[in-house]
Amino acid sequence: MIILSPSLLAADFKHLEQEIRAVDQAGAQYIHLDVMDGDFVPNISFGMPVIQSLRSCTGRVFDVHMMVREPIRYISDMKQCGADIFTVHAEACAHLDYTLREIRRAGLKVGVALNPSTPAVMIREVLGLADMVLIMTVNPGFGGQEMIGYTLDKVREVRRICDQKGLSMDIQVDGGVTLQNVTRFLEAGANVIVTGSAVFGGDAAANTARFLKLFEEFEKK
Ligand code: DX5
Ligand code: ZN
Repeated sequence: MIILSPSLLAADFKHLEQEIRAVDQAGAQYIHLDVMDGDFVPNISFGMPVIQSLRSCTGRVFDVHMMVREPIRYISDMKQCGADIFTVHAEACAHLDYTLREIRRAGLKVGVALNPSTPAVMIREVLGLADMVLIMTVNPGFGGQEMIGYTLDKVREVRRICDQKGLSMDIQVDGGVTLQNVTRFLEAGANVIVTGSAVFGGDAAANTARFLKLFEEFEKK
């Protein structure tokens, strides 16, 4: 099943509740929450208090993308704030294996992310500990960038490695995904689609419906 995870980073921060309700009612299955620490990435977004207060707006899956150094420090806090998926960057964890095990132990779904320049082999050994691989299709830190073409090859490669290992992994892509290019990511093997500007940059409900319709048509093929 193909899942849409609209990124709140591109939403109107004055009206987060309405923005969430719009994509929820239009059928988006996840809400993507970008947490940035101003250190691992050169930007600061929002953290636990905001996520906790948004939890009551929706029953949709909270897909938390930690662009934070040593995110192991925040696993239990994020769990308490209502996170469902906790995705960490392989580049940001000194002990990636241990971090992924701790996320699982906390009862969260486990995601592992790769920056554009990080090769797929970086996570080969720990794939069995994860539910989802997030392949960054832009350099993390900011919304509204253009996707980097070579990341499509990495989507194919991660899908191939997972197939070889017999793992039915979710593969998420994040950054610069639009209605125009999303099919290329789906064809490469991605099944969880993050999109910020392409949803919240206009009528969020209508854009959500457009993505979901495209997914439905893709799945029928
Ligand atoms: C970038 C974030 C993304 C971002 C995507 O660092 O991880 O989730 O919000 O936004 P768009 O779709 O506008 O590239
Ligand atoms: Zn993200």
